[in-house]
Amino acid sequence: MHISSDAEPGAIDADTAIFTAADWAGTRPRTRTIAALLPRLGRKPKQTKRILLEGKIAEARRTLAYAFEEIRFEPSLDVAALSAAADTLASAMSLDARMMLSLTRLRSRHEYTYVHSIGVSALMMAIARLLGYDAARVRTMGLAGLLHDIGKLHVPLEVLNKVDRLTAHEWSRIQSHSERGGQLLACIDGLDPVVIDVARHHHERVNGTGYPDKLAGTDISEEARIAAVCDVYDALTSSRSYKAAWTPAQALGWMHTSEGHFDRRILRALRTLIGAFPAGSLVRLQSGKLGVVIDDPESAATQPLVLVSYCTLARRAVSPQVRNTAADPIVAIEEASAWPGAVAG
Ligand SMILES: [Fe+2]
Repeated sequence: MHISSDAEPGAIDADTAIFTAADWAGTRPRTRTIAALLPRLGRKPKQTKRILLEGKIAEARRTLAYAFEEIRFEPSLDVAALSAAADTLASAMSLDARMMLSLTRLRSRHEYTYVHSIGVSALMMAIARLLGYDAARVRTMGLAGLLHDIGKLHVPLEVLNKVDRLTAHEWSRIQSHSERGGQLLACIDGLDPVVIDVARHHHERVNGTGYPDKLAGTDISEEARIAAVCDVYDALTSSRSYKAAWTPAQALGWMHTSEGHFDRRILRALRTLIGAFPAGSLVRLQSGKLGVVIDDPESAATQPLVLVSYCTLARRAVSPQVRNTAADPIVAIEEASAWPGAVAG
């Protein structure tokens, strides 16, 4: 993803999933799961759940890597294996959506992985569920998320990874991935048309300024509009070689102000999904302390940990301290601009 550093000032493009031979070298999907080991681990429930979810992410990653390796050489995909991977992610989301989404944010700055596609897939399935899709359509959304950026196989890594400003030619090479992805998937027998549509149209914008077909409004399928929201959110909240990760609150805030880019109903669904107090939110506690919600998958969505650093009653900074909001509840979400003395930077 390149933000304001490319040929199109102010543009944002979620081209974050990059695939390398090293990622899949010698790897085939592993049938034995971490879940099978759990009874012997004897860990606390949350730790156990975390290990289980990490195992599911790793399992889906291996399946995806293998599929992408195969399609380089012949126009075929193991749709059954990929659908099973989507099912694995769906079951992981059912177990603990918040922890799952938090874990898919965990990717190293220089890691070229499939985790972006896995994150998008998980988000798409969760939003589809929120919008009332039936199980078969949710599964299709999962598959569409896994494959949405498959066209990047045809974009050179040095372009995808470039830290400096992109040339107009490089920018157009990156943009070509959605059209190429659609073409690639159209050659696969038995693939749901939604999967092809999402690959081709996940960079369209509701105001008609997206690509490749400059579709607008409901001419863009709902599935592709969901993909657009999930793709950008996942890209913004992950770190890459050229940018640090944004917090969920920063990402949601930016997406909300990005007029004409996203479907508002789907943005609202994303906000519901991410939770009332995403990491990075500035909140006021019952004690009058002001602080920032910490990204902690171990704490409950409604009672997150907060790093307090300001007292609104005394109107002065206090020593930074992590507060448990089960004991000191959140009473309001605050705007940083209203407390200039409380928020550095
Ligand atoms: Fe993309």
